[in-house]
Amino acid sequence: MSVELRPLGVACNIQCQYCYQNPQRDAGNVPRAYDVEAMKAATEREGGPFTLFGGEALLVPEADLEELWRWGLEKWGSNGIQTNGVLINDEHIRMFREYKVHVGISMDGPGELNDSRWAGTLERTREATAKTEANLERLCREGMPPSLIVTLHRGNATADKLPIMHGWFRHLEQMGVTSARLHVLEVDEDGVGAAYALSTDENLEAFLGFAALERELTTLRLDLFQDMRNLLTGNDDNTTCVWNACDPYTTRAVRGVEGFGQASNCGRTNKDGIDFVKSEVEGFERYLALYHTPQEHGGCKDCRFFLQCKGQCPGTAIDGDWRNRTEHCDLWKGLFRTLEEQMLDAGEVPLSASPERKEIEATFLELWAQGQSTSIAGVKRLVAERAQSSGAPVAVGNVHGDVPHGDAPHGDA
Ligand SMILES: C[S@@+](CC[C@H](N)C(=O)[O-])C[C@H]1O[C@@H](n2cnc3c(N)ncnc32)[C@H](O)[C@@H]1O
Ligand code: SF4
Ligand code: SF4
Repeated sequence: MSVELRPLGVACNIQCQYCYQNPQRDAGNVPRAYDVEAMKAATEREGGPFTLFGGEALLVPEADLEELWRWGLEKWGSNGIQTNGVLINDEHIRMFREYKVHVGISMDGPGELNDSRWAGTLERTREATAKTEANLERLCREGMPPSLIVTLHRGNATADKLPIMHGWFRHLEQMGVTSARLHVLEVDEDGVGAAYALSTDENLEAFLGFAALERELTTLRLDLFQDMRNLLTGNDDNTTCVWNACDPYTTRAVRGVEGFGQASNCGRTNKDGIDFVKSEVEGFERYLALYHTPQEHGGCKDCRFFLQCKGQCPGTAIDGDWRNRTEHCDLWKGLFRTLEEQMLDAGEVPLSASPERKEIEATFLELWAQGQSTSIAGVKRLVAERAQSSGAPVAVGNVHGDVPHGDAPHGDA
């Protein structure tokens, strides 16, 4: 998985009202300088390739972007960027093509549905949205369709707005977009929750509506539902970070490199306005604790979907405290229940309803206690190996492979 290179940290050209990086901006932790050679050295140390990330990576001057991507292409054969898409110009398009840059764009819908991705005034916000829309269309026209991240909230996913969103997704598919990821809104500030958070029922209606829409679409895929089905069947080797027992102090899916080469973690875990030093040792205390802690005390005890969900992303933990399960528990439970029911109706037995579940859970607990983790598929392979070696102990080794980051460009576009 790629390194996330953040030359200008959380510096951004717009001010999405709900951005999980706002506590860092509020604390004044916005760098203004970087050192290209230090970033290259650190990226090589991490083992590249890299994706440019921010904040907004297109704030980096074109000459430096060109140097980084020229180097990235030479070393690893391709590049990536995750952007809000507002600043893309002719030069960027040329570089995307020349240096094989896979582009991920974040946008929450057409026109006013994207208003929470605020640019200072309503007029500037609408202008910025129009630019992103035009750039998205241009990338598709030029044969480089981007992947998309869409965050669902009150501004774009209440019952009255969903038909507009569905129409937009059909249009995206016609334009050639093949991969979109839906984000649940992470709420870090009370004001954001009051203004933008959907209720659990509204979230469920919105997500189930998108699941139905996906069945109607032919080439545009929303990876969330496929991930969740794969977790229920135990074919989860390539699911995104939020399902993979992420340790907030090492964030396996994010090998971040900052402007002067500092190693960093996924920004979703920063709740105090600062980057914590990245730990060298991965730990799974959160998952051991969640398994044993009753749900009324913030844990996941006795949840039949624990193997799949594992309390979900620590950046979304209740009260911003990674020891708790996600604040979106009811949404994930509701979605897993629906998918489980669909599988049972189709004659399949999801792991949540299988007698295998307890043994797999026990193996996860064993691995986590040893500072290791893996996928459900990995545990099943381990259990099979142990059975084959008829009781002789099988070394666990480093069983967890790379994990894709949910906030980064994705898909095969
Ligand atoms: C922080 S941005 C940085 C990269 C770039 N500026 C962009 O807009 O894609 C990465 C992704 O996180 C999403 N994001 C930011 N705050 C979020 C929140 N509170 N909940 C869910 N997703 C969020 C953004 O919409 C974007 O898709
Ligand atoms: S978004 Fe992914 S990498 Fe970041 S904290 Fe959540 S699970 Fe970990
Ligand atoms: S659905 Fe809720 S209780 Fe079950 S594992 Fe996920 S967060 Fe925990």
